[in-house]
Amino acid sequence: MSPLAPTRRQLLATAPAVLAPTLLAGACTELQRSDRSALLGATLRLRAEARGLFFGAAANRTSLADRAFAATYTAEVGVLVPETEMKWRALRPTEGAFTFGSADALMDFAAGANLRARGHTLVWHEAWPEWLDAALSAGRAAAVLEQHIERVVSRYRGRMHSWDVVNEAIRLQDSPGHLRQTPWLEALGPRYLDIAFRTARAADPQALLVYNDFGLDDASPADSAKRAAVLDLLSDLKARGVPVDALGTQAHLRAGQVIDQGALAQFARSVAQLGLKLIVTELDVRDHGISGTLEERDRAIADHARRFLDPILAEPATIGVVTWGLSDRYSWLNGPRAERRSDGQPQRGLPLAPDLARKPLWGAIARALDDAPRR
Ligand code: G3I
Repeated sequence: MSPLAPTRRQLLATAPAVLAPTLLAGACTELQRSDRSALLGATLRLRAEARGLFFGAAANRTSLADRAFAATYTAEVGVLVPETEMKWRALRPTEGAFTFGSADALMDFAAGANLRARGHTLVWHEAWPEWLDAALSAGRAAAVLEQHIERVVSRYRGRMHSWDVVNEAIRLQDSPGHLRQTPWLEALGPRYLDIAFRTARAADPQALLVYNDFGLDDASPADSAKRAAVLDLLSDLKARGVPVDALGTQAHLRAGQVIDQGALAQFARSVAQLGLKLIVTELDVRDHGISGTLEERDRAIADHARRFLDPILAEPATIGVVTWGLSDRYSWLNGPRAERRSDGQPQRGLPLAPDLARKPLWGAIARALDDAPRR
């Protein structure tokens, strides 16, 4: 049993207590719509599963070592996503070494808490180990890429719901095809995507293989153009028989931006018409441009998330929603590299407050799940 995983007794001892006050706290208005008997079972996990969807959240060794957080996490979440522990920098200290300790600990935690898992991420231009540039320059790019994916994916074969195989390969400023100018593209050309997906499929035929990207959310010209570019990429991959199964739309939303629900519905439909599933993979909501009280900020964040989720969840091809963390206590939005609000206040972009109380965003996600057509 992973040192991270609280025992079942601890879970049962703390989870209802952790949940009960939150049930009676801010989210109560949201939960009055469901009868009292369902109240204690009204976690996001159960609400999603009641509609044939899943609800997940990113976590890491630090957050899951916090017992109060872990108890709430295992109650609210059905799918665990390692925030950093399965990235190249965490797994590959040198070209010859694979360090799976942290990734294994999170997978053991998931197994101990009866959670499924999503793998994140096999190919990305960030979280880059220092030695990798030299390996690519030495003409070993394909071998290194294939070895990494084969070794990592086969380690969790049969235990992974899905993998983010390639992350963030589109950048509108780049050409041809808006393919981001990454070291992988430079070394292998566009076929690096083919190699990645085909190698992952061979290593675990059961896992759903996902192309994951951000900036597909609002009515801005940039997001509209990126949705079109991502559709072109997916269409091209499918036409070449590349085994991609789903699009992951990260959904790092920004409250105050305009959401065009019709355009989102059409985008989701276009993804489905390619024969792909759709997953919201990293939902959180920044609100740099929103001033006002915490209550006003939380309301604006919740309303914005709801406007995004409704058209996405109305699409039958959508299979799940994952938030990028569960509580503001542990959010990259308040990390060392994150953009700060002008008033210096921390971001409140996740469903639970730092004290683990459910916020209006929790209620907005709960309502969007409740109102989603049953799969
Ligand atoms: O673990 C080291 C620690 O030993 C060291 O002291 C510290 C200071 O350098 O760094 C720690 O590693 C940090 C790691 O998070 C774990 O906390 C890295 O510097 C930091 O860059 C890393 O940031 C993560 C980032 O991806 C890059 O991997 C964020 O937590 C994570 O939320 C973010 O997630 C990404 C998704 O993977 C892709 N989509 C965008 C999303 C947000 O950027």
